[in-house]
Amino acid sequence: MKKLKTIVCALVALGTTACGGEKKQVSQDRPESDKKILVTYFSATGTTKDVAERIAEAVSADIVEIAPVEAYTEADLDWHDKTSRSSVEMKDETSRPAIREMDVNPADYDVIFVGFPIWWDLAPRQVNTFIEANSLEGRTIVPFATSGGSTIENSVKDLRRLYPSLTITDGRLLNNESNQAISDWVLSEI
Ligand SMILES: Cc1cc2nc3c(=O)[nH]c(=O)nc-3n(C[C@H](O)[C@H](O)[C@H](O)COP(=O)(O)O)c2cc1C
Repeated sequence: MKKLKTIVCALVALGTTACGGEKKQVSQDRPESDKKILVTYFSATGTTKDVAERIAEAVSADIVEIAPVEAYTEADLDWHDKTSRSSVEMKDETSRPAIREMDVNPADYDVIFVGFPIWWDLAPRQVNTFIEANSLEGRTIVPFATSGGSTIENSVKDLRRLYPSLTITDGRLLNNESNQAISDWVLSEI
């Protein structure tokens, strides 16, 4: 019986590290340990920031904010007002609001998670500023978002349209997800 268990464990170990232990399943062709992972996020009111921190914690990744030089006031975020800062920026496809310099170089990483709130069914223009300020060819960009209900699809489609030379995954909307669900998803992306 003991011999049978040993054989089963040896077979299981080819696809997972869970036999007899508590480690999470790890895909053989996508080991989690040998890739440098960075979590970046823009967050105007803290929701996406919270998710970003949970992603970084799940894989002990470095985390850095895509921080606007000029923070958004409540009035700036008023989508009912056509003249508010966010409305004006989102109406103008060429708008690239200034962001603060980062103390890491995103190009040093293999996988870059990029988080943002959905604004007008798109990624806020700060995300474009961030992408265009860095050399991310050859890296894997993994979008994630929070929203009031919109999906992430259109924002990812638009980023792919604008940056066809970049590798941008389908990403995921992470509204009210458990830490376990976030962790499982993150591990599947790296
Ligand atoms: C200017 C603006 C536009 C928004 N547009 C959308 C939208 O198109 N669809 C949606 O579901 N939520 C929309 N929202 C809601 C945000 O996506 C949602 O509250 C998000 O979780 C906020 O994230 P944050 O706290 O990280 O900024 C919008 C919010 C703002 C301020």
